[in-house]
Amino acid sequence: LVAGVDSSTQSCKVVVRDADTGALVRQGRATHPTGTEVHPSAWWDALQTAIADAGGLDDVAAVSVAAQQHGMVTLDEAGEVVRPALLWNDTRSAGAAAELTTELGGPDKWADAVGSVLVASLTVTKLRWLATNEPESAARTAAVCLPHDWLTWKLSGSTSLDALTTDRSDVSGTGYWSPSTEDYRPDLLELALGKVVALPRVVGPADLVGGRFGAGAGDNAAAALGVQAQPGDVVVSIGTSGTAFARWPNPVTDGTGTVNGFADAEGGHLPLVATLNASRILTATASVLGVDLADLSDLALSAPAGADGLVFVPYLEGERTPNKPDSTGALHGMRLDTMTPGHLARAAVEGLLCSLADAIDALRALGMPVERVLLIGGGARMPAVRQLAPAVFGCPVLVPSPSEYVADGAARQAAWAVGGADTPPLWSDLASTSVEAEPTPWVRERYAAARDLTVNR
Ligand code: XUL
Repeated sequence: LVAGVDSSTQSCKVVVRDADTGALVRQGRATHPTGTEVHPSAWWDALQTAIADAGGLDDVAAVSVAAQQHGMVTLDEAGEVVRPALLWNDTRSAGAAAELTTELGGPDKWADAVGSVLVASLTVTKLRWLATNEPESAARTAAVCLPHDWLTWKLSGSTSLDALTTDRSDVSGTGYWSPSTEDYRPDLLELALGKVVALPRVVGPADLVGGRFGAGAGDNAAAALGVQAQPGDVVVSIGTSGTAFARWPNPVTDGTGTVNGFADAEGGHLPLVATLNASRILTATASVLGVDLADLSDLALSAPAGADGLVFVPYLEGERTPNKPDSTGALHGMRLDTMTPGHLARAAVEGLLCSLADAIDALRALGMPVERVLLIGGGARMPAVRQLAPAVFGCPVLVPSPSEYVADGAARQAAWAVGGADTPPLWSDLASTSVEAEPTPWVRERYAAARDLTVNR
């Protein structure tokens, strides 16, 4: 047996699977506080509860931890957490991102050095924010790691900073590791924090750490493993954040900053486009309308395609694609006849899908094939989202099941580490539903016009 963990922004999930067949044996989950700043002990408590809920891990040969990317976990000399972690969705370091960009000589320089243009999500910008705004915390910081690194380390029982490990996929989202040379850039860490601190050792994708722990991964890379993504597949995930990514053999640099040149969890690369606003668009709209998500879905499907011109630009928490941290959302085309719950629900689902279609287009623009979209994440459970996705994306959409892709990917990594083969095992019991629909390009055209008005105002 092997186990996989997904410590996400909202909760912790644990799956236990058969290492050879991938058959699900048992699982558990627990929630933890959410927000943009969370003390790592909350993740640890949730992990303990989820492990107990899954019947314990005494009988598993290996466990891998996947988690939300980019979160800044600061540790002191004694291995104690210095301050609550600033998460990927915390935009307070937008100013720090701008400063660092100028200091290195522009966005292109960062893309060349670390695969990504700096946005507030990346860890290095949070370190600059810390150095500027909380110098005492920065002074106390002796090591920096990511959520999955810290949880793996805690599971191993070690308190030595030397025992911290990470993997290529997650470290490629820090802003101080180069996917081209596969090395840390201590000079960039120092530029941000004013000093060099201990960093986790980067282990290979199929390595075992401490005899029992897989390398772990960032959640998006783990999801690619969990859905067994093939060339030509673009994975679109609708979670707290929206992401579109695909496996690719070579490092990617995009000086415009839209595509992050991350590494994957299989030894290759994972160009990724992220949006800050995803499933929350659905929950916020449902709450405004006073309905649950099932009713929101029915309402959306009751309105015509394009919602008679009502367009919802969904930048409710600022946005990262396009990189406009201070932007707000907007409703265009409000008329008496479009001010109905059905029109608003339809516009919300279409707005979500159009913003993800923008993300897919950014991958296409770098020459990546888009033959099929694999739609995952909590938002993909909504029937209206599934049904409208192929119409908006303009290609077939596959909804894989079961739904714990991230934890499944971590478990598959653990099985790979235990089995010792060159590639991860192919698990056959991962079924999926295919959805097709007539493309509605005009829905995207209207959205694009409204989006441009919104971000340029
Ligand atoms: C990716 C990103 C998010 C988090 C969500 O760059 O910031 O997808 O990984 O957990």
